[in-house]
Amino acid sequence: MTDDTDPTRRAMLAGGALAAAATTLGTTAARAQDAPAGELAGQIALVTGGARAIGRAIALELARMGADVAILDIADPEAIPGIGYPLASRADLDEAVELVRAEGVRSMAIVADIRDEAALREARAAVEAELGPVDILCPNAAIVTSAAFDEMTGDEWRVAIDVNLNGTANTIRVFMPPMMERGRGRVVVTSSSVARHGSAGNAQYVASKWGVNGLVKSAAAAAASAGVTATAVAPTAVESVRMPEGDALEQANEALSNGGYNAMDIAFLEPVEIGHAVAFLASPRAAFITGEIVDVAAGANIRWTA
Ligand SMILES: NC(=O)c1ccc[n+]([C@@H]2O[C@H](COP(=O)([O-])OP(=O)(O)OC[C@H]3O[C@@H](n4cnc5c(N)ncnc54)[C@H](O)[C@@H]3O)[C@@H](O)[C@H]2O)c1
Repeated sequence: MTDDTDPTRRAMLAGGALAAAATTLGTTAARAQDAPAGELAGQIALVTGGARAIGRAIALELARMGADVAILDIADPEAIPGIGYPLASRADLDEAVELVRAEGVRSMAIVADIRDEAALREARAAVEAELGPVDILCPNAAIVTSAAFDEMTGDEWRVAIDVNLNGTANTIRVFMPPMMERGRGRVVVTSSSVARHGSAGNAQYVASKWGVNGLVKSAAAAAASAGVTATAVAPTAVESVRMPEGDALEQANEALSNGGYNAMDIAFLEPVEIGHAVAFLASPRAAFITGEIVDVAAGANIRWTA
């Protein structure tokens, strides 16, 4: 199903494989071709939950590497009541699109809820009409909620699973089959380091992200022979609108850094750190990485068994 009109495969053959061959032969001549600038030129990306924070950083990194980027977001602060913080606004979404365009690539805004499969199918048609078929899919939208295990309501459980797991599955089920038909593409999902262990205070979020990891590995299995890879990044705590303030921030800094959770001397990563990892997994340099969950976790991951 693969073809050599695939820009990812072409670049991989011309750059990565040659670089590997050159290294084997004891020369580094081909390594200069690995420079990321323009590496994704001509490719179309779609990032869900891209109006702000991690999703926006992913969109910007892909744009800096030359991809045109459609940004999909629910874009309504009150759209999912009871989660304890506002979702992104239409202004956030429009600003993200403008920042992507400022990188010299095309962009478009799509307002949709990833729980709504029909809306995602309309989104796919809109992106294909305006930018072209999607080469790089970044399902990133999610809600981050917490509740003591024995106090959690059924609604709190259901909405986390519905957005984070069902919504991510909807996104992949709508956008990945056309990639498989075309014989090329990348799916890079935003999971979480909490999908590596349990947690008493946010079982609904943890379980939804463990489900996402299983979904990614299954998508990878389904799409591998069609030339499509599926991976995830698993970030530790990242700066967001949910940051604690004042004393609570100091306590969080203490609890998360220097072996508290992260092994390294940092509590909260910046969104761009996640953008870098996603952009790498979307690039020709990651052509043969699939089914992998990549921790971007400042060493929190040293305690996982594998
Ligand atoms: N911030 C962290 O500490 C952290 C750590 C690990 C993983 N993550 C993951 O990173 C991703 C982004 O999180 P963030 O911290 O940037 O949060 P965020 O709330 O800033 O961004 C999430 C975006 O998704 C959008 N969104 C939410 N529900 C949606 C829906 N149903 N349909 C469409 N859009 C929707 C929101 O409007 C928002 O723009 C999530 O998958 C989250 O689970 C975050």
